[in-house]
Amino acid sequence: MLERLVYQSTASHEFGSLHLFNLLTQARLRNQRLGITGHLLYFKGQFTQCVEGPPESIDQLWQSLQRDDRHHNVRLIARMPVAQRRFTEWSMAFSSYAALYVHGLTGFFPVDESGTSPLVPLCAAGADA
Ligand SMILES: Cc1cc2nc3c(=O)[nH]c(=O)nc-3n(C[C@H](O)[C@H](O)[C@H](O)COP(=O)(O)O)c2cc1C
Repeated sequence: MLERLVYQSTASHEFGSLHLFNLLTQARLRNQRLGITGHLLYFKGQFTQCVEGPPESIDQLWQSLQRDDRHHNVRLIARMPVAQRRFTEWSMAFSSYAALYVHGLTGFFPVDESGTSPLVPLCAAGADA
């Protein structure tokens, strides 16, 4: 069984490229172990993250996220069972300002001025698979 969880949170400080690189490197390693895939958007001081994987893994990650003081005001938007993944290729794809790209970072998608990238719409909560 697979679940998808979507939340938004407020960054506790301004994230520069190295902060984000470190966060993503850590997240991707753990997500591979947990069987989690997904997408993280950082735009205007807000994170929007979509994670998908086995319910036990989602539970573990959700508890870790609550404890993490790099962000606060963590708001659950949706959690639902899904038939298939939307982010099969990415242990955590990432969309943000082009200026935050660090050379060599895979799975990075620059946002346009309205804060969207080709992957952002996939994150929109919906009851479909
Ligand atoms: C915005 C944001 C997104 C994160 N995404 C993930 C993630 O996808 N996977 C992950 O393992 N950790 C992620 N983390 C880090 C976790 O909050 C946590 O620090 C890490 O999983 C270690 O968990 P622990 O403190 O329970 O050992 C994220 C942190 C932030 C602030």
